[in-house]
Parts: sequence; C-alpha cells; structure tokens
Amino acid sequence: MADLHPEADRLAQEIELMAYKEFQDKELYPRGYSVVPDGVEILWETPDNDLGYVRPWTYELQCTGIFNTARYSVIEASTKAGKTLACMIWIYEQAVLNGGANKNFWWVGPVSDQSDIAFRRLKEFIPKDLYVANESRKFITLWNGAVIWFKSGDKPDSLYGEDVYAAVVDEASRVKLESWQALRSTLTFTRGPVRIIGNVKGRANWMYKLGRIALEGDDPDFVYAKITAMDAADAGVFEWKDVWDAKKVYDDMSFRELYLAEPADDGGNPFGIQHIQACIVPRISSNEPVAFGWDVAKGTNWVVGIGLDKEGNVCRFHRWRDSWDATIKKVIAHTGKVPALVDSTGSGDQLLERLRNDGGRNFTGLVFSTRSKQELMIGLAVAIQNGEIAYPDGPIVYELELFEYAVSPQGNIKYAAPQGYHDDCVDALALAVKRWRGMQAVYTGATPISIEQTSPWKI
Ligand SMILES: Nc1ncnc2c1ncn2[C@@H]1O[C@H](COP(=O)(O)OP(=O)(O)O)[C@@H](O)[C@H]1O
Ligand SMILES: [Mg+2]
Repeated sequence: MADLHPEADRLAQEIELMAYKEFQDKELYPRGYSVVPDGVEILWETPDNDLGYVRPWTYELQCTGIFNTARYSVIEASTKAGKTLACMIWIYEQAVLNGGANKNFWWVGPVSDQSDIAFRRLKEFIPKDLYVANESRKFITLWNGAVIWFKSGDKPDSLYGEDVYAAVVDEASRVKLESWQALRSTLTFTRGPVRIIGNVKGRANWMYKLGRIALEGDDPDFVYAKITAMDAADAGVFEWKDVWDAKKVYDDMSFRELYLAEPADDGGNPFGIQHIQACIVPRISSNEPVAFGWDVAKGTNWVVGIGLDKEGNVCRFHRWRDSWDATIKKVIAHTGKVPALVDSTGSGDQLLERLRNDGGRNFTGLVFSTRSKQELMIGLAVAIQNGEIAYPDGPIVYELELFEYAVSPQGNIKYAAPQGYHDDCVDALALAVKRWRGMQAVYTGATPISIEQTSPWKI
C-alpha cells in the first residue's frame, strides 16, 4: 500500500482508531482500505466471526468499565444503567474466549432471586443451539464445555471449592463480605478476572472499600467506573423522564444513592460510622462485668452475650449455637449474679422464667416491639456517640456498621440488619448498655445523699 499512497501507514493507523469508534456506533468493523483517486476508502464489514457472534452495542462507560484487561473492575452505577446487561455479555465472552471442558464461570447475586434473573436473561441472550441449561442447579454449559453458574451470595459456604476462571458479583453492595472472600479465594489459583457491579449503599461494605482502592488508580489490576442515571440517559438507555420522576418520588439520600451513585455517609446507619470507629479499643477489658445483655435466639441463630465493666468497656463476649437446654445452662454460668437484661420477645418469655428459676432474680427481660426496639437502639446510639462505651474490633463493629434503619411508607422507622445479615451482637450490646445505665449510679462512685425532710407534705 505504501507504494500506492505516500501516507498509507499513517492513514492505516488513523483508520484503525476511527474504526474502533465507528465499531462502537455502527457495529461495523474495518476489513481493509482501498486507495482511490480522491483519498482512501475504508472497507467496512459486520464483525462476524465463526460463531456468528457480534457483541451487542454498549455505550462508552459500560464498555470501558467492564470490557477491559484489569483483573478487578468496580462499577458503582445508577439503577437501570445497564450493569447487569453489560456483565452478561462480558461473562459470556469470557466463557467463550477462555472456556474449555469443565472450566467454571460464576455469576453471584446477593440472593438466589437476583441470580435467577441473570440466568433467565443469559439464556435468552445466547443462541439456543450453543448451550444446554440445567434448570434445577442453575448453570449453563456452552458448546466448548465452559460452565456458567448462577449462585446466591447468601450462602458463603457454597462459594468455595471449584476453580473459577471469571466471575461477576451483581448488586455487590448487598453481597456478604464472607461471600466475597470465598469467591476471591476460588479465583486465586486461576487469577481470574471479576466484575463487581451494583448500586451504592452507604460506605460500610466491602464493595465501597474496593471501589476506593480502584479509585486511587495506582494499581493497574483495578478499574473503577461510575455510571449515573444521567450518563445512561445520555446514552439513550434510560429515559430522561424517569430520572426526573425518580427525583420527585425519592428522598434526597435515596435518590443520590440510587441514581447518582453517591453513597450516603452512613447508608442509613443510626449510630454513625465515625462514632462506631471512635469507640474501638485494642482489646477486651480485663475487668469484671457489672451488666450483661443477652440475645438468646432459638433455632439456628446465634446466642450472643455481652458483658460491660463499670466504665462501660466490653469485658465479656460470648457467641454460640447450641440446644435450648445447654444454652440456658451456659447463660446462667456466664452471667453468675451480674444483673442481666435478656430479650424476652416471643419464646423468650419461657426463657426468662427458666433463667429466673434456675439462675436468679438478676435476670430481667425486655420484650421487643417496634417502639421498645427503637428506644433501645437510640439508647445505644447515645452511648456510642458520647463515647461512653468501648469494644474491640471484630463482630461487634462489623454488625454495628451494617445496621440500618429504614423508613416505611407509613413513616415508621424499623431498625434491623440488612436481609441476610446478623444483628445479635447489636441487640446484646444494646441490652447490656440499657442494663448498665441502671447500674451507673452505684458504680460512678456517687454515694446516695440522704436529706432531712423539709417539705411539709407527707410522701
Ligand atoms: N447497551 C445497551 N443497549 C440497549 N439496551 C440496554 C443497554 N444496556 C442496558 N440496556 C437495557 O436497559 C435496561 C436496564 O439494564 P440492566 O442491565 O438491567 O440495568 P442495571 O443492572 O444497571 O439495573 C434493560 O432493559 C436493558 O436491556
Ligand atoms: Mg441489574
């Protein structure tokens, strides 16, 4: 070509660059060019290959955020920005390009309903004659032997084991930390890439933290992208009207999180992340407890007991799962004669009776209602925000940071852990704090003062 046109080399480069952009817009690919009297003519073709596969159009942010060579991509995006769609295409391409007999590719959602949606959508996307699906176990086997699994992140144990060659974590801000850790370990051997996508939800989650690592930008293994509803609307994937409607319907904090991908300071955390952090001490106190809080769950949940010393430091922490009878014996043994407040909601009633019979009068109960729980949690929030209590890092901190309040359409505020997470440490701590407050007058060193009765009235 250089013989025909003095500038052919430079033109060739330019054309490739142009071709890349055109390809984005028109799904066309340059196959070559011809030198003609008035310049250079590009030969365009549909980018067909042997499989007849053409990557569906993706807009620029979708494309650069997900289709890149980084091992980790974190995409914080608006709802309906096209995260799931782009990652469906990506995981399919990964399985086609890097797949082979029994090589695994994973799609992980926070709960099975979520990954089922991707399973259904991917089956519609891939041509029918290129795969077989296992409907009950939720996987797709491609013609090349690669297997794409659709998994639920609420069962971390199910995410260990096989070697995984690439993975997507959908709605990652809702996926448990343990599940992410499990998934990451399955990707270690293969050094497989992973795409982490979702709405933002506060800052107290692993996706947010990973996003900040990616944002720092000095690690080529990490890519970060943020896609707002406006970006998606600009690209024509989202209706502008839907953005304005959402602005009217949602409160400011939710709108910012859901549509602008701007995390709230604490994601609705009633204690405040900085305050929680400020109460962390290096180790558990070695003093004797003066108050206990017990969250004694029946069934498969954890029993948690927390003891506070007279200064409000956590000095005992117990957590177990056992039979009802064994649990009662242990609670009594651990508590001794220390005043203890126990969650006596529902079957907790019988529990309290047994504790008082076998243990002693130092056990008192609190029945959880929307109102009593709210008051209990406000009491805990005050203690944390005033720095009155202290605890070591670990499960207490982890649960405090994830705890949230949600406002129902009726305006009721409900305090709880997000679905699939525990809050027994928070409950136990809040109960301990309430009991501890009752003890404070005695333990602050203040002596009750008796005064002579000066009032003329008889009491
Ligand atoms: N590049 C695209 N081209 C056409 N439609 C798209 C594109 N990306 C997303 N969409 C459409 O936008 C809608 C939302 O996409 P989805 O992937 O479910 O969003 P998200 O997971 O971000 O909530 C879907 O109907 C999807 O088909
Ligand atoms: Mg989605």
